[in-house]
Amino acid sequence: MSITLLNLYPTPADLQRLVLDGMRRSPRQLPAWMLYDAEGSRLFEEICRQPEYTLTRREITLLEQNAAAIAAATGPGLVVEFGIGSARKVDALLRALGSSVFAALDISVSALEDALSGLANQHPSIAMMGICCDHTQLEQLPQHPALDGQPCIGFFPGSSLGNFTPQEAVQFLANARKLLRGGPLLLGLDQPRDPAQLKAAYDDAAGVSAAFARNLLTRLNRDLDGDANPEHFRYRASWQVHEQRIEMALVSTRDQTVRLAGDAWFFRDGEAWITEYSVKYSPTSAAELAQRAGWRIQQRWHDDEDHLSMHLLQPAD
Ligand code: AVI
Repeated sequence: MSITLLNLYPTPADLQRLVLDGMRRSPRQLPAWMLYDAEGSRLFEEICRQPEYTLTRREITLLEQNAAAIAAATGPGLVVEFGIGSARKVDALLRALGSSVFAALDISVSALEDALSGLANQHPSIAMMGICCDHTQLEQLPQHPALDGQPCIGFFPGSSLGNFTPQEAVQFLANARKLLRGGPLLLGLDQPRDPAQLKAAYDDAAGVSAAFARNLLTRLNRDLDGDANPEHFRYRASWQVHEQRIEMALVSTRDQTVRLAGDAWFFRDGEAWITEYSVKYSPTSAAELAQRAGWRIQQRWHDDEDHLSMHLLQPAD
């Protein structure tokens, strides 16, 4: 059993710069990956188990049912997963492909360690490579003998692309195209549907989604010497029909000043601090997005109710 971890984690100076950039935006918004410290990763796993949040369970079933067809369409190669997510997703794919190496890119070291050791127990003959980085920015895999020379198969499930703005999504897809060296990309995307269902998925009755958003403030207080009080913000999730997205925000419940990253930030009563967007892509909008980044969609698999899709993207030329 072998697990190798390579650390390309952003330095504290990068973190500070990104926070300052995000706090100067209107409305304020930081990169979504900042939600995933160890506690954020744990809370996200808990969201995936909530009855209202069906995306993860549906996608696992979809992958288990179609792994052989997907593997036949991609052909063999080194699976590179963007964001480790749930090890159960890649498991079916690794079995169907008979892979000897698996590489996972994730911002959270603890999530990488936990997921890769679980996967290594199930697949003792696969060499596990964990690359701790901001995978939205990476254009090439680090130099390592296990990663050299093999064709790559990108795997980006979970509709995580929806957490980027459309512009960032195009940038990510263009970077992934370079990183995968001509190989295909399997892209799992959630689709637009009943707004009430979507809203419930992002504001579950048990309050886990709210705790996940509030944890951003706890994390920033710890890492950037902040004094934001999570109790002075209320969580809100709303469906924005024009943008076809859920907006998640912490709304200030009073006029207040928050100190963070060496600066003081004033929030009006009712002002929203966006924690995340979750854009939903129909097959048509997914094809348009892919095309803008130099990809074409070769094939699509979907669940019984057609709530989510696994798209197989190939370089357009
Ligand atoms: C990781 N990502 C795809 C989740 C989503 O559905 O947009 C993040 C999430 N945030 C709150 N609930 C789920």
